[in-house]
Amino acid sequence: MGLLDGKVALITGAGGGIGRSHALLFAKEGAKVVVNDLGGARDGTGKGNTMAEKVVEEIKAAGGQAAPNYDDVSERAGADGMVKTAVDSFGKLDIVVNNAGILRDKTMLKMDDAMWDLVVKVHLRGTYLVTQAAAKHMAERNQGGRIINTSSVSGLMGNFGQANYSAAKAGIYGFTRTVSMELAKYKITCNALAPVALTRLTEDLPMLAAMPNAKEILSPDHIAPIALFLASDLAADISGAIVGIQGNQVSVYRMTQTSGVTPKNGNDWSPSELKERWAEISK
Ligand code: NAI
Repeated sequence: MGLLDGKVALITGAGGGIGRSHALLFAKEGAKVVVNDLGGARDGTGKGNTMAEKVVEEIKAAGGQAAPNYDDVSERAGADGMVKTAVDSFGKLDIVVNNAGILRDKTMLKMDDAMWDLVVKVHLRGTYLVTQAAAKHMAERNQGGRIINTSSVSGLMGNFGQANYSAAKAGIYGFTRTVSMELAKYKITCNALAPVALTRLTEDLPMLAAMPNAKEILSPDHIAPIALFLASDLAADISGAIVGIQGNQVSVYRMTQTSGVTPKNGNDWSPSELKERWAEISK
C-alpha cells in the first residue's frame, strides 16, 4: 500500500533537482505521475524533451507509472496542456506540485527588464496558470485536491542579488494564502514549500558548497517526503501553510505583526512621536 495509491499527480519542473525527487517518491508511493519539464537551462533559455523523458524512464524502471510533458508553465496553453496530459494519460488529476523555476540573479540597480520579467513570469505567473488550470478540473470533479507551491527563503526573508526572484517567491506566499481560503470549499488544500537543497540552481552558492557533506545533508531527496505528506490524505486539514525544509529540519514560516500601539493623544500620530516610540511599535 502506498500513501498515494489511486492518485494522479502533476509535478512541474520535474526533470531534475527537487522536482525529480518529488516525482520518484510520489510514483513509489503509488501515484501516477505527469513529469513536466521544459528542459531548458537554469536561466530559462532553451528547451528539450530529454529531462522529462529520463525521469519517466526512471519511474517506469522502478515499476511505477508516469507520462512526460514538455510544456512551459508560464504560458496559458502550456498550463492547460499539462492538465490535459494528466487527464488523457490517467483520467484525472488530484495533486499538483508547482516546482518549475529559473534564476537570473543581479542586484536591483543592475537588473534589466528581461531578467525581471522572465523570472516573475516563470515562478509567479506559472504558479497561477497551472494552479488555475488544475483547480478548475478538481473543483469540477468535486473529489478534493492538493496544490503544493514552491516559495523560497529568498522571498520570505529577502536575499541580496535576487530582487526579481524574491519578489516572485513572496508573491507565491500571498497566492498560496489566498488560494487556500478560496479553494477550501472544494476540499482542495494549498500549501507551499520553502526548501533548501543542493541542485543546479544552488550549486554555485559558496555558502552551500562549502558545507561539509552538503551533497548528502542538502540532497533534494530530503524535500520530497514533506511534499508527499502534504499531497496525501494525512494532510487533509492542513492548508495555507508555508513549510520550510533544510536537510531533515522542518519548520513553518509565518508572517508576523506586532501587537499595535496607539498615539498618546488618542487621535493621530505625529512623525516625532513615531520616531520617539518606534522601538515600542516594532517590538
Ligand atoms: P532545478 O533547476 O534543478 O529545477 C527546476 C526545473 O524547472 C528544471 O528542471 C527546469 O528545466 C524546469 N523549468 C524551468 N522553467 C520551466 C518552465 N517554464 N516550464 C516547465 N519547466 C521549467 O532547480 P531546483 O533547485 O530543483 O528548484 C526547484 C524549485 O525549488 C524552484 O521553484 C526553485 O526556485 C525552488 N527553490 C529551490 C531552492 C534550492 O535550495 N534548490 C531554494 C528555494 C526554492
